[in-house]
Amino acid sequence: MRFASDNSSGASPEIMAAVLRANEGFERSYGADQSMTRVTKLVRDVFEAPEAAVYLVATGTAANALSLALLTPPWAATFAHASAHAVVDECGAPEFYSGGSKILSVAGDGGKMTPDTLRQALSANAHGDVHSVQRGALTITNLTEAGTAHTPAEVAALAAVAHSNGMTCHMDGSRLANALAATGASPAEMTWRAGIDILSLGGTKNGCLGVEAVVMFDPTKAWEFELRRKRGGHLFSKHRFLSAQMEAYLTDGLWLKLATQANAMGQRLANGLRDRGASIPMTPANMMFPEWAAGHHARLEAAGAVYYSIPAPKGREACRLVTSWSTTDRDVDAFLSAF
Ligand SMILES: Cc1ncc(COP(=O)(O)O)c(C=O)c1O
Repeated sequence: MRFASDNSSGASPEIMAAVLRANEGFERSYGADQSMTRVTKLVRDVFEAPEAAVYLVATGTAANALSLALLTPPWAATFAHASAHAVVDECGAPEFYSGGSKILSVAGDGGKMTPDTLRQALSANAHGDVHSVQRGALTITNLTEAGTAHTPAEVAALAAVAHSNGMTCHMDGSRLANALAATGASPAEMTWRAGIDILSLGGTKNGCLGVEAVVMFDPTKAWEFELRRKRGGHLFSKHRFLSAQMEAYLTDGLWLKLATQANAMGQRLANGLRDRGASIPMTPANMMFPEWAAGHHARLEAAGAVYYSIPAPKGREACRLVTSWSTTDRDVDAFLSAF
């Protein structure tokens, strides 16, 4: 009954086996390993993007911050939803890596900005005035921090606003696999075909030990990214262990298989809680924010359930629940019985 986060799960057996295989013998360091060549090919195939440049880092914060630093100069702003990880959970890393750029929050329900709220945020900022930050990049999170999924059409509508205002587009895909499994969209449809220029592709939350890919659909700034990654201390010397994880993750659709299991458990949990009177906003994947009558937290905690509670109106309780690739029917059913 561990529903605090998908990164509180372990790594999948396929990923562990790949890391053990990579432990045999000697390999070139710093990304020159043979497995990295295969990772680049896999990413290009899976995303139908034959020109893409691909780099690996070990945390989602590094993937986001280094990508945004590439797109947003120090005198410009990245526009992000108010709940975005880059806004609230990265301790200023995008600002730090970009040498002082600003992040401006965009409003929107359910973790999603809309073309209108984005336009409002753009016009509230005095672009062109020397006293103000200029326009840099837009970042869109999918799966969102509210557990909702953007469709390719929604991504395309936001990217169109960004591009028509001279900006580039980044996607925080820390949980992209969950968003793809939830919407049925292809990786290409959800990203570059919808106007995404750079993607942070998550692995850690979905069965890897610790690896995220930065996928640059336009490789023009690939060398600059390499320099920024090294300078920022994120070029791993024993890089083969990052490559091994990403290679196994993308081989034979493992990433989507793991996310499909996480989402199925999310749906089982959400439906079970709804049947028992909880109210849960739209939750198509593996993360949900239920609210229920006060009293359940104590019972769940006593039964050994682990999750984050969040503030709720008087007489009510609320929390965040996240299922993972390793959540089983038994875990969910135990939680529902304790509830
Ligand atoms: C949406 C999102 N993006 C990025 C991250 C980055 O994660 P970390 O730097 O902890 O690997 C997280 C982790 O919670 C996340 O939820």
